[in-house]
Amino acid sequence: YLAALIMEMIHTASLIHDDVLDDADERRGKPSVNTKWQSNLAIILGDYILARTMSIGMASAQYDIVSYVGSAMAALCEGEVLQSQHAKSLDTTREDYFTIIYQKTASLLGVCGAIGAMSLGAQREDVERMRKFGEALGIAFQIQDDILDYNRANNTGKPVNNDLREHKITLPMIEVMESKSEEEVNEMKALLKRCKDDNEALDTLHNRI
Ligand code: FPP
Ligand code: MG
Repeated sequence: YLAALIMEMIHTASLIHDDVLDDADERRGKPSVNTKWQSNLAIILGDYILARTMSIGMASAQYDIVSYVGSAMAALCEGEVLQSQHAKSLDTTREDYFTIIYQKTASLLGVCGAIGAMSLGAQREDVERMRKFGEALGIAFQIQDDILDYNRANNTGKPVNNDLREHKITLPMIEVMESKSEEEVNEMKALLKRCKDDNEALDTLHNRI
């Protein structure tokens, strides 16, 4: 229960912060925290959840679990920073994409697998196997999440096309760009640059992909 509780609280805190970074107005079909109470309160709320998580973890004295969790939190932040750098330079390659989704999503699910196994007293080898399983699940989940971002009929309870609005190049766009000429790729990137405030550019790029 402790492992599940800690991971769920970190997941929640990371999504509250993520919606601030992505300027997203909806989460799980409801207004995001930043929409309802503004970004400054969303940041402090995410921090508060993290602080409570750490004190619960430390009070449990299960330091092996807490130490796994600390490294996952750092990986999440590194993934977000890398993603934000690429959203500025518009140069995400397939390799960059997989590094980003490994850090921002797969690492967390890997730790879920590992500490789930640890909490049942599994041997080191099985802990590692469950970490690999969690990471593979995380990669698959994020690819699917990125596809659904393009689907106007999705029922994820999250805004549609937010990745394009935030200049995030994800696997669907990478797949398309890989089959296009340099000129066409540059044209797509020029459209992407305008997506935040220009719905016509957004629709054109969305339809092309
Ligand atoms: C969702 O990605 C976001 C993540 C998987 C990680 C977010 C991590 C941070 C904001 C760093 C802060 C870390 C902690 C521990 C507080 P997405 O935007 O592609 O998915 P979405 O469609 O659900 O928004
Ligand atoms: Mg997001």
